[in-house]
Amino acid sequence: MNKNKAIGIFDSGIGGLTVAHEIAKKMPNEDLIYFGDTKHLPYGEKSEDAIVRFSKNITRFLIQHNCKMVVIACNTASALAYDIVCKECKNIAIPVNVIDPVVDFTCKTNAYKIGIIGTKNTICSNVYARKIKALNPKLKTNSLATPLLVPMIEEGFHQNKISKTILSNYLQNSEFRNIDHLILGCTHYPLIEEEIKQFYEHNIEIINSAKIVSKHVKETLDKMNLSCVKGSKAKHKFYVSDYNRSFEQSAQYFFGQRISLKQENI
Ligand code: DGL
Repeated sequence: MNKNKAIGIFDSGIGGLTVAHEIAKKMPNEDLIYFGDTKHLPYGEKSEDAIVRFSKNITRFLIQHNCKMVVIACNTASALAYDIVCKECKNIAIPVNVIDPVVDFTCKTNAYKIGIIGTKNTICSNVYARKIKALNPKLKTNSLATPLLVPMIEEGFHQNKISKTILSNYLQNSEFRNIDHLILGCTHYPLIEEEIKQFYEHNIEIINSAKIVSKHVKETLDKMNLSCVKGSKAKHKFYVSDYNRSFEQSAQYFFGQRISLKQENI
């Protein structure tokens, strides 16, 4: 496989940019192709069939655009469509989901009582609790769907009265009493990580998938001898299934003013 091919990354919207940004920081020479499925956002409440179909189409698009790796930078699609992405990638690209690296990381910490927040689909799939228990049955997990957070973040609501009220309503949940670690089980949530830390008065560990997944991506490419070898500066391309200005602004916030954003109907 050509080492200088791009890394493909996708999410329903801006959430996966948190992962893409960390990948770009750790691997500044790697070209990235990002796909935000803004036409179908949010994924959190769509049917499994729909998520599988969207993920399959996006994976095909990324492979056609010559990606050596497909990072599902979305917990919902990782929970419901990892198998189809693996199938589409077979022998052409390396599939990566955001859940396994976070579960491995969490089980190596001193966590005991772990809270997990995510979309309705991610939480209903029970994937985090199941995988954590499989690695360490002694760990306690409590999961909570927090469906208002994605639209709130996509609308740019953070550090204000509305975001604080929504967050405290969710996090005051009695199941979450005495948790020592909280997994941000949605790639949108790192955008409000600071606010979540403030809610807990910095007394618990927040597990942010963006950093963990970017480390995993680097280690995987290094191990497979597929890290890029070109010396030239990386070129990043951004695609959305429905143009929207706020996506462009978020991409500019992470990657600078001169990003190229194209609409692609898949
Ligand atoms: N960022 C996504 C996730 O990690 C998707 C959120 C959504 O579209 O509902 O689950």
